Amino acid sequence: MTPLQQFYEEIKDCRKCGLCESRTHVVFGEGHPNAEIMFVGEAPGENEDIQNRPFVGAAGKLLTELLAGIGLKREDVYIANVIKCRPPENRNPRPEEIEACKPYLWKQIELIKPRVLCTLGNFAAQALLDKKVAITKVRGQHFEVKNFFVFPMLHPAAVLHQGNLRPALLEDFQNLKKFLGKGLQPAQQPEQMGFF
Ligand code: URA
Repeated sequence: MTPLQQFYEEIKDCRKCGLCESRTHVVFGEGHPNAEIMFVGEAPGENEDIQNRPFVGAAGKLLTELLAGIGLKREDVYIANVIKCRPPENRNPRPEEIEACKPYLWKQIELIKPRVLCTLGNFAAQALLDKKVAITKVRGQHFEVKNFFVFPMLHPAAVLHQGNLRPALLEDFQNLKKFLGKGLQPAQQPEQMGFF
């Protein structure tokens, strides 16, 4: 068993927050165990909770297409969420749920050791930058956190609700492609930024 699989075994029956009462699965994540690029979404939705896989609903289909658009397959990257259990009715995750689950995400990151952490949407950007940022302000930039590059992007689900955001999301993926092509660059530290 790999260390990542072993870690899943450790947390698959987690009861650290109230979401354990309504979830079907602890949706751990999937993809290449040593991926260079890791995508971090918000939380599993209904399909993810049933299938025990991240990003398999409509937003997942769009994510898969966006990856293909920059020459990547789902198997090339790792995909996970800040929150591993579905919030009832897909409500926003609560601060105490994020705090309970965030150490799991960091442990996953430390095991996978990706070069770039692409956060999808506000919750993932705020969780990994540890700051109350607005995604519209931080997208297009990259930050260095604990020796990882954090690359905030819009959430594909936002485009499903607001079609006018599609060009911006496509731009985020093109920027990622450019960033990966250029290799590592000096990054801003989140504490040096004024976000609002
Ligand atoms: N599916 C996920 O797994 N995460 C999201 O944030 C949205 C849909």
